[in-house]
Amino acid sequence: MYCYREIAENLYWIGGNDRRIALFENVYPVPEGVSYNSYLLLDEKTVLLDTVDRAVSEVFFENLTALLQGRALDYLIVNHMEPDHAATMAEVVLRWPGVKIVCNTKIQGMIGQFFDFDLTERFITVGEGDTLPAGRHTFRFLMAPMVHWPEVMMTYEETMQILFSADAFGTFGALSGHIFADQTAFRMDEARRYYTNIVGKYGAQVQAVLKKAAGLRITMICPLHGPVFRRDLEVLLEKYDRWSRYQPEDQAVLIAYASVYGNTQNAAELLAARLAEQGAPEIRLYDVSVTHPSYLIAEAFRCSHLVFASTTYNAGVFVPMENLLRDLAAHNIQNRTVALLENGSWAPTAGSLMKGLLEKCKNMTFLGDPVSIRSAVKAEQAAAIEALAGQLVQSLRAD
Ligand SMILES: Cc1cc2nc3c(=O)[nH]c(=O)nc-3n(C[C@H](O)[C@H](O)[C@H](O)COP(=O)(O)O)c2cc1C
Ligand SMILES: [Fe+2]
Ligand SMILES: [Fe+2]
Repeated sequence: MYCYREIAENLYWIGGNDRRIALFENVYPVPEGVSYNSYLLLDEKTVLLDTVDRAVSEVFFENLTALLQGRALDYLIVNHMEPDHAATMAEVVLRWPGVKIVCNTKIQGMIGQFFDFDLTERFITVGEGDTLPAGRHTFRFLMAPMVHWPEVMMTYEETMQILFSADAFGTFGALSGHIFADQTAFRMDEARRYYTNIVGKYGAQVQAVLKKAAGLRITMICPLHGPVFRRDLEVLLEKYDRWSRYQPEDQAVLIAYASVYGNTQNAAELLAARLAEQGAPEIRLYDVSVTHPSYLIAEAFRCSHLVFASTTYNAGVFVPMENLLRDLAAHNIQNRTVALLENGSWAPTAGSLMKGLLEKCKNMTFLGDPVSIRSAVKAEQAAAIEALAGQLVQSLRAD
C-alpha cells in the first residue's frame, strides 16, 4: 500500500526505506537502514525527480501510481545515475512510454551504459542554468560534477525555492514516517559519516556547488537519502563548508590503535590518560579492528589531532590500520596534527610506514618521531608517551 508524504503543496516524497540492508554500497554499515528518496510534483506537468533503489521499487511504484491517478508522467528529471537512484528508471520508462528524460549529456551517456534501450527520442538535454517550466513551477539545473559522480546535477525549483540536492546533504538511516529533519532524531554524526565517506574526497567540487547555492534563496533541501531540511539550513551548510575545506570541527584528539596482544592498546590508553591529566578537552580512543573505518574517517574529519598507534605486522603496518590510513588518504584528509606510535618485537617499522602513508596528505603536521615500543611499554616509552601528551595539549591550546 502506498505511503507517500506531501512535503509542500503538490510536492510529494515517494521514496522507500531499506532496514534489511547491512552494508550501503556494500561497504558502509547502516545499522539503522537507509532511505531512497524520490519526489513527485503534480502541476500542469507531472514531474518525477529521480527514482529509487531496486530494494524499494515496489512501494515506489505504488506511491507513484496512486498519486498520478491515471495521469501520464510527463518528465523524469535524472540528477544522478548511480543505481541506488536510477535502477528503477528502466521500469518507469516502460510504464510511462511518453515520459521525457530531463538530464545532462553525461547522464545520457551513462543511461546508455547501464541500460540496453535507446532513449534518444525522449531526452530533454539540460545544462548549467537551463530551466524547465512545469506550470506554476519552474525547475532550474545546476551542474554538480563529482558531488559523488561526474554526471551529478542538482535541480532548483524557483517558485517554492527548493533545492533537490542529489546525494549531497544525505544521511544514513531509514525514515520513520516523518520526512523533515526537524521532526526526526536527526543525527549529525551519521550525516558526517555519510558525507565524509561518500563525498569527502571531493571537497573542491563541493565548495564549487556551495558557491552556486549561496546565490540561491533556499527554503528546503531535498536530498536523495535521509530527511528533508526546511529549518536551520545554515547549520548543515556550515558543516558542509567546513568538511569540504577539510577544517576540523573540534579541538579533540582521535587515537586509533591496532593491537594484536594488547600492548599497543596499553600505550594508547596510557596516552589517553596522560592527555586527560594534562587537560585535553576531548579524547576518543578506537580499536581499528573493532570500529568500521567509515566511523573513523568521520571522526578524523571532526577532530583536530590524530594519533595512530600500530603493531608491526609482517614487516608492515597491521592490516586494519593500513586499510584505515589508505582510506583516509584516499578521502583527502588534510590540515591535521598527527602523532604516531609503533610497536614491534624484533624490527618495528610501522611508524615510518604509517608516516609514509600520511605524508601524501596535504598540510599534515607531525609531532616528533614515532614513539617506538619493543613489545611492551617500559619506563622509557612511558616517559616518551607523557612527553607526547604534553606536545599534543600544547598544540591543542595553540590552535
Ligand atoms: C603475524 C605477526 C607478524 C608480526 N610481524 C612482525 C614484524 O615484522 N616485525 C616486528 O618487529 N614484529 C612483528 N610482530 C610482533 C608484533 O609486532 C609485536 O609483538 C606487537 O607489536 C606487540 O604489540 P601488541 O601487543 O599491541 O600486538 C608480528 C606479530 C604477528 C602476530
Ligand atoms: Fe551516489
Ligand atoms: Fe545515493
